[in-house]
Amino acid sequence: MPTLAEKKTTRPSRPAPELIFGDLWEFDPAPETADPKLKPRYDLFIDGKFVAPKSGKYFDSINPANEQKLAEIALAGRDDVDAAYAAAQRAFETTWGKLPGRERAKYLYRIARLLQDRAREFAVAETLDGGKPIKESRDFDVPMAAAHFFYHAGWADKLEYVAPGRRIAPLGVVGQVIPWNFPLLMLAWKIAPALAMGNCVVLKPAETTSITCLKLAEILRDAGLPPGVVNFVTGAGETGAAVMSHPIAAKVAFTGSTEVGKIIMRSLAGTEKKMTMELGGKAANIVFDDAPIDQAVEGIINGIFFNQGHVCCAGSRLLVHEPVAEQVLAKLKNRIKVLRVGDPIDKNTDVGAINSREQLNKITAMVASGVKEGAELFQPACKLPSKGFYFRPTIFSGVSMSHRIAREEIFGPVLSILTFRTVDEAIEKANNTAYGLSAGVWTDKGSRILKMSTELKAGVVWANTYNKFDPTSPFGGYKESGFGREGGRQGLLDYCKLV
Ligand code: NAI
Ligand code: MG
Repeated sequence: MPTLAEKKTTRPSRPAPELIFGDLWEFDPAPETADPKLKPRYDLFIDGKFVAPKSGKYFDSINPANEQKLAEIALAGRDDVDAAYAAAQRAFETTWGKLPGRERAKYLYRIARLLQDRAREFAVAETLDGGKPIKESRDFDVPMAAAHFFYHAGWADKLEYVAPGRRIAPLGVVGQVIPWNFPLLMLAWKIAPALAMGNCVVLKPAETTSITCLKLAEILRDAGLPPGVVNFVTGAGETGAAVMSHPIAAKVAFTGSTEVGKIIMRSLAGTEKKMTMELGGKAANIVFDDAPIDQAVEGIINGIFFNQGHVCCAGSRLLVHEPVAEQVLAKLKNRIKVLRVGDPIDKNTDVGAINSREQLNKITAMVASGVKEGAELFQPACKLPSKGFYFRPTIFSGVSMSHRIAREEIFGPVLSILTFRTVDEAIEKANNTAYGLSAGVWTDKGSRILKMSTELKAGVVWANTYNKFDPTSPFGGYKESGFGREGGRQGLLDYCKLV
């Protein structure tokens, strides 16, 4: 028998930490195999039925992970948008607008449950059409979409508490346009409060990600939602403009780029329409030297690489306290070396496909500008699939406030790191942006969290966490990030009038 001392000396020595982090271990492929039940062709959903577009035109929706065609989507023209609004107005006047809240709640609960029943199928469809990792669509997008329907079902019979002491009424028909980064979740954010409040809806999904919207139409039909209460028209910017400017729309809600938000606002100036806009962002994630550093590093990674950085509230600027700047940078570099970039349908994938070739080109150009302006680039040497749209997780250090990568929204997996010395400098730098959607603060000090969350001009400030969402908590921006709130009691206020 070896003695204890001998045992100690014969134990194999552990590899140095650099070796553990240096290589990405090969995993066997682990694709999610649930059937997404896709149809080869999707028509418009108007008045409770799937109908062909009047123009007879369709466009392709592709899988950005391999550029293969998934389905054909109807291209709605002005006539189709008119038909959708006419159906919505009829439904508002004859069925939905007359139902008591407790009856509307039953439909919302039914939609939530049917979505839960088909959760895996929806997650696969979302991943195939949009490129996000299956673990995100499965564990975040689909459950959160169901949670929004459940939450608003709970409100539908308690609307007198939305504005205590006041009487409220629905607006009528609302027009909504949503982007491609959270197709099903944005749809739930938009239609659940509208329906709970008694409004009817005409909604357009983004042209690259229409499939889960049209699959949800199947659920609305199966839930027995009266025809015309919700109508989906598909297409690109022209269809979106027709939805936003339609004379029947009492309110319009838009989520997307600041550029298009401004176009819509200009075109609606002087009309009676109510408006809410959820636009771009350039959030600061601020790390102080007393923060739990490993936890902060995970939060930073989640803040910008989550969903390929296709997140309006992404923590795209890291402001790090000088005493810990080197340490944080070293840990971030080690961490992104082991992010798995690749096929989004694989259950091990951390960073999936970029949503479209246009978006990939935009990210590539922004990263080139960072290099040209003198910031220091770091990318892991991971292999990228030969087909499809992919971008390596990217960290820029030595960034200054004048660099484009510090000012403009990139909407990709690209982190720009700046440093600061004092609390005031951190606040000043964080607020020195045209946007104001979100921010993050990492510190051990509660008083500092309170100070920062008061002084940061951002709609959401996360403390010692990032990208946390809940239907009960309102979300929305300051400045060029838009106005109006979604979620919580505040979100419902944007879908009613006080009478
Ligand atoms: P976009 O703003 O053009 O698209 C968003 C939605 O608006 C889509 O459904 C689109 O069809 C629709 N749309 C386009 N033009 C319209 C118009 N004139 N009237 C009404 N609707 C219209 O965004 P895009 O071009 O896909 O992405 C460009 C950049 O916008 C991204 O790189 C990112 O920086 C930002 N973006 C921000 C989002 C956010 O959640 N805040 C979401 C998507 C993009
Ligand atoms: Mg697509």
